Amino acid sequence: MRTPLEGKAAVITGAGQGIGRAIALRLAADGADIAILDLNIENAKRVAAEVEALGRRAYATVSDVSDRDSLHAAVEGAEKELGGFDIMINNAGIAQVLPLLEVRPSDFERITQINIGGVLWGTQAAAASFINRGVKGKIINASSIAGHTGQPVFGVYSATKFAVRGLTQAAAQEYARYGITVNAYCPGTVGTGMWEEIDRILAERDGVPIGASFRNQAGGIALGRPETPEDVAGFAAYLAGPDSDYMTGQAPLIDGGMLFI
Ligand SMILES: NC(=O)c1ccc[n+]([C@@H]2O[C@H](COP(=O)([O-])OP(=O)(O)OC[C@H]3O[C@@H](n4cnc5c(N)ncnc54)[C@H](O)[C@@H]3O)[C@@H](O)[C@H]2O)c1
Repeated sequence: MRTPLEGKAAVITGAGQGIGRAIALRLAADGADIAILDLNIENAKRVAAEVEALGRRAYATVSDVSDRDSLHAAVEGAEKELGGFDIMINNAGIAQVLPLLEVRPSDFERITQINIGGVLWGTQAAAASFINRGVKGKIINASSIAGHTGQPVFGVYSATKFAVRGLTQAAAQEYARYGITVNAYCPGTVGTGMWEEIDRILAERDGVPIGASFRNQAGGIALGRPETPEDVAGFAAYLAGPDSDYMTGQAPLIDGGMLFI
């Protein structure tokens, strides 16, 4: 079995389900020990058990990525439990389906604190730890197709994902001197709890059946099928492994052919 991450450890936020869970299992299969950080501790523990079943060490802890102290404490806990870490995946994020006229300060604050704040605080916690320990670590952030093109009713979500690309580029340049790389993944339409929720809201708004909005969105994918969490995890594994050592500051699309830019 090929295990390019043997001897490495990864901290992954929002790893209790969806894309984060798939990344946790893929990196574990590639040889890494995994810290699973999530708001939902039951889900985090379940994923930890799945990681252990693959023969790797796992640490599950609750963390709210929008809260700097909570995230820094969880990253420090993971570092102690796993004896250091080499990969930080700032994956946790939320969607928001709101026309711009309907956005209120509380909506704006919540999504920016989670989607931008979570990446900023996670990047900070990982970079401080890597620099302190002299680790040429890898920081990997969740952006989106919405981080490359604004979409109606996803305006603020798009803005947060554009911001993730900005942070990724800035961090890549700040940390290059330490041998730390910073990149992002930009998925398209992935079948996870996030899209179930988007689909439910769109069904209510537009008076269409459950599943119709997801099928409609997925209908425009050149490769002819919706994306799976494992599709994203394969690319995250590349970004986490030695094959991407010469890449930094990038946010490639992994969308099955939705945007051609
Ligand atoms: N699903 C898609 O189509 C899609 C497309 C592009 C980008 N993304 C991005 O990928 C990432 C993962 O998306 P997903 O589809 O797996 O979502 P998901 O909703 O299925 O899972 C998100 C996980 O993050 C956790 N989480 C939410 N807020 C948190 C917080 N404040 N602190 C800690 N954990 C928190 C949730 O508990 C959940 O386990 C997100 O950043 C999302 O924006 C998803």
